[in-house]
Amino acid sequence: IKLMSVASEIYPLIKTGGLADVVGALPGALVGQGVSVRTLVPGYPAVMAKLGKIKIVHRYPDLFGAAASLLAAQVEGLDLLVLDAPGFFAREGGPYGDHGGNDWPDNWRRFAALSRAGADVAEGVLKGWRPDVVHVHDWQAAMTAAYMRFGPAAHVPKLVTIHNLAFQGRFAADIFPNLGLPPEAWGVDGVEYYGGTGFLKAGLVSADAITTVSPSYAQEIRSPVHGMGLDGLINGRVDRLHGILNGVDTDIWNPVADALIPKAYGARGLGKRAANRHALEDRFGLDHDDAPLCIIVSRLTWQKGMDLMIDAAEHLVALGGKLAVLGSGDHVLEGALLGAADRHRGRIGVQIGYDEPLSHLMQAGGDAILIPSRFEPCGLTQLYALRYGCVPVVARVGGLADTVIDANEAAIGAGAATGIVFAPDAAAALHGAINRLAALHADKPLWEAMQRAGMRADFSWTQSAARYADLYRSLIAEAA
Ligand code: ADP
Ligand code: GLC
Repeated sequence: IKLMSVASEIYPLIKTGGLADVVGALPGALVGQGVSVRTLVPGYPAVMAKLGKIKIVHRYPDLFGAAASLLAAQVEGLDLLVLDAPGFFAREGGPYGDHGGNDWPDNWRRFAALSRAGADVAEGVLKGWRPDVVHVHDWQAAMTAAYMRFGPAAHVPKLVTIHNLAFQGRFAADIFPNLGLPPEAWGVDGVEYYGGTGFLKAGLVSADAITTVSPSYAQEIRSPVHGMGLDGLINGRVDRLHGILNGVDTDIWNPVADALIPKAYGARGLGKRAANRHALEDRFGLDHDDAPLCIIVSRLTWQKGMDLMIDAAEHLVALGGKLAVLGSGDHVLEGALLGAADRHRGRIGVQIGYDEPLSHLMQAGGDAILIPSRFEPCGLTQLYALRYGCVPVVARVGGLADTVIDANEAAIGAGAATGIVFAPDAAAALHGAINRLAALHADKPLWEAMQRAGMRADFSWTQSAARYADLYRSLIAEAA
């Protein structure tokens, strides 16, 4: 099967979150399933800088007002198609906005251009290569499905994956005439969304299949609370909805052979984690003692429940624990966490920013990772934590609920417990979880049993890649 994946991020070239990890890991995971993947991504400066040898495979004199070309390149084992459109992508800042966190005002045009290019490839503009199936990710790529549906590639199967329904790509109605779609594409069965233009919405109505990144999230988004305006549409298409759990790229996240940590270790050598713990404490200016060392590696946002962490951090310290936070996001939350670190020197350390190597050290040296998300389509940091023997303490939502086994009496009795699971969006529940964490951590044999159970769990891509491949095959069969 020849598959084209379209996305706005791909690890290790450009990443703001889990989307990049998944888009970067899928091609490797699918090889064994007989699926060869080409991934179309925007030519941001970070991407262009890593391309090396390129081939221009298509030229656009004018793509939504900008000169553009499609480049083919092989980078880090990835087979890439890059939309080189300097007018849209050659900018200082992140993929979606400037350094100050303001979205680019022309994001609709930038990602419509990406999606138009995706549809063009599906329609056969490249010499000698045309995909059998098209898999697009989140709102930034979702319009690919809409362009395909209203054009000559309508019969090519298209799959839209929802990584996060909170980001929908909503724009004003008056951009519609500039999208280059036929008039009939406007309407409830097209790109119109509550009176405006909805990119994700357009993708979801146009797709032959919709997937979410965990089974629980597929159920949750059918309710108004988690559906965020799209629950009606999703309920109408449940026969097309599948929840396929993300996996871990075990080449990148492997404690036995991780070059980014001071001391590699396996489930039978948990004692070696002490060296990593020590290094982690040094990095964050924390005291060296045996108290539970909790970590957070996260976007600092409301979704992630980081506002609840301000009080919870005080509670953790009052119980004798320590906390190391790596993250960035909401400036108010950043300030509040830095304030807590000031008040509790040696007990709370905060680093604002993005630091991939440090995130490995934290998973390798931390005792527990705290993830109090209000919603979590999948979540990857709890999966990395499980693999690294860092016990996840997570809210019972989405992919967190699907991947962590709470240390209740039954699970402890069966030797199955891998973490602590608590009710989301409630300060009291988070405090209760921290109490349980302290008690469990004090019981060393039990804590180590949990660490080892987590490390034994298999969250590699093998099973999920097989599910995607089955889905691609069924879509291709249906279209034939
Ligand atoms: P989301 O995509 O919603 O942010 P995920 O848990 O799916 O959440 O993925 C987050 C990814 O980003 C993980 O790979 C995590 O390690 C990484 N990450 C998040 N914040 C940081 C940070 N400040 N520094 C380094 N890596 C980070
Ligand atoms: C989104 C979600 C996160 C998920 C990631 C990768 O960023 O917030 O839960 O793990 O996508 O699918």
